[in-house]
Amino acid sequence: MNFGGPDDYLRERGDLRTLLKRHVGLDITEAQRARWVELTTASARETDIPETFVSIFANYLLGTSRTTAQVSHLTVPGQ
Ligand code: HEM
Repeated sequence: MNFGGPDDYLRERGDLRTLLKRHVGLDITEAQRARWVELTTASARETDIPETFVSIFANYLLGTSRTTAQVSHLTVPGQ
């Protein structure tokens, strides 16, 4: 999913693959995942982004946080 905006992050820090790799080995628990979604959604609500878009973003976080938590349990051979 692409929410638009400048591409500074993509150019300087990498794409979704790189981002997922940063979470490998973190062993994120279900409680940590749920709390992360709660806090990130609350942060979005503190902005002046309209509620419709905050809801879409919150839904996106639900899905992507599950993928991230799954990836976090992978181990990389040799590390
Ligand atoms: C599932 C719950 C999540 C937890 C507990 C979590 C935790 C963390 C932690 C501890 C780091 C620092 C890793 C390091 O040492 O470099 C990190 C980095 C990061 N996470 Fe997550 N994360 C979660 C999900 C997500 C999701 C769903 C996204 C985005 C869709 C995301 C975006 C990022 C970004 C942008 C960074 C910084 C990467 C960089 O260095 O450029 N995280 N996260």
